[in-house]
Amino acid sequence: MSIDANLRRLFSLEGKIIMMTGAAGGIGGSLSKGMAGIGAIMCNCDISEKGLKTLEDEIAAEGGKSKSFVMDVTNMDSIKSVVESIVKEYGTIDVLINVAGINKREGFMDVKEDTYDRIMDINLKSVFFITQTVVPHMMKKKNGSIINIGSHNATAMLGGCSVYGASKSGVLGLTRAMAVEWAEWGIRANAVSPGHVLTPLTQVTWDHPTRGDYLRDRIAMRRPGYPDEMVGIVALLASDSSSYISGANFVVDGGCLCGGAPWEFDSEYRNKEF
Ligand SMILES: NC(=O)c1ccc[n+]([C@@H]2O[C@H](COP(=O)([O-])OP(=O)(O)OC[C@H]3O[C@@H](n4cnc5c(N)ncnc54)[C@H](O)[C@@H]3O)[C@@H](O)[C@H]2O)c1
Repeated sequence: MSIDANLRRLFSLEGKIIMMTGAAGGIGGSLSKGMAGIGAIMCNCDISEKGLKTLEDEIAAEGGKSKSFVMDVTNMDSIKSVVESIVKEYGTIDVLINVAGINKREGFMDVKEDTYDRIMDINLKSVFFITQTVVPHMMKKKNGSIINIGSHNATAMLGGCSVYGASKSGVLGLTRAMAVEWAEWGIRANAVSPGHVLTPLTQVTWDHPTRGDYLRDRIAMRRPGYPDEMVGIVALLASDSSSYISGANFVVDGGCLCGGAPWEFDSEYRNKEF
C-alpha cells in the first residue's frame, strides 16, 4: 500500500460528521479548518453568528465542507434543536468536540455568584448536557468519539482563576465518567488540555513587560503554543487510529507542567555550534 493510502487509512476524517462548540473562537477555528482539511464535515456551533459565517467562508475557500449552527451552549432548547438539525441533515454525529469556554480573572474573594454560574454553565454544565444530548445517536451505531477541551489550569492553578480551574477540573472528571460509562457502546472520550496558547485574548499577556517572561520561564520550549498546534492531537482522537485511547487527558503545553525553564543549567553543550 502507498504511503498516501496508509496515511489516509490511519488518519483521514473523510465523511466523518463532527459537531464542535466554540467553533468561531481562536482554538475552535483552527481545529475546524484543520479537520475540514482532512475530510471531515464540520458542524460548527457557536453563539457568534458573524464568527461562524467567516469560518464557513474560509473553509469553503480551501475546498472543505462545513455548516454553521448558531447555538447557545447554556440553553437546553438551543442544544436540542441544533443536535436535531445536524442529525436530520447528516443522519448521525460521529465526533463531538466541546470547545466553548470562557474565563474571568478575579480573586477568589471577589467572585460574585453570577460570575461563578456563568463560567460553570459555559465551561462545565454545557459539556454535560450537550454530550448527554448527542450520545444516544452514537449509542445507536455503537461508535463515537468525544473530545473535551480542558486546560493547564485544571492541574496548575494561577491566581484569579479559581472558578475557571474548577470548571476545567470538572471537565476532566466528566471525561473519565463518559469513558467508563459508554465504552460498552464503542464510545471513547478524551480530554485535550492546552497550555498557554497565543490568541487575540492572551496577546496582551505575552506582550506584557514582566508577564510574558514569567510565562516563557515556565515553558521548556520558551514560547506560546499556537491554535494550529492543537489540531494534530484532536484530529488523532477524532480518527479511528485512536480506537484504543479512552479516558485520557492529553497535555499540549510545550513542556510546562513538566517543569519549564526557570534558569539556565551548566552544560558544555550550551551555545555549542554543530
Ligand atoms: N487560549 C488559551 O490559552 C487556552 C488555554 C487552555 C484552554 N483553553 C480552552 O480552549 C477553549 C477555546 O479557547 P479560545 O482561546 O479559543 O477562546 P475563544 O474566546 O477564542 O473562543 C471561545 C468560543 O466560545 C464561544 N462561546 C462563548 N460562550 C458561548 C455560549 N454561551 N454558547 C456558544 N458559544 C459560546 C465564543 O463565541 C468563542 O467563539 C476554551 O474552552 C478554553 O477554556 C484555552
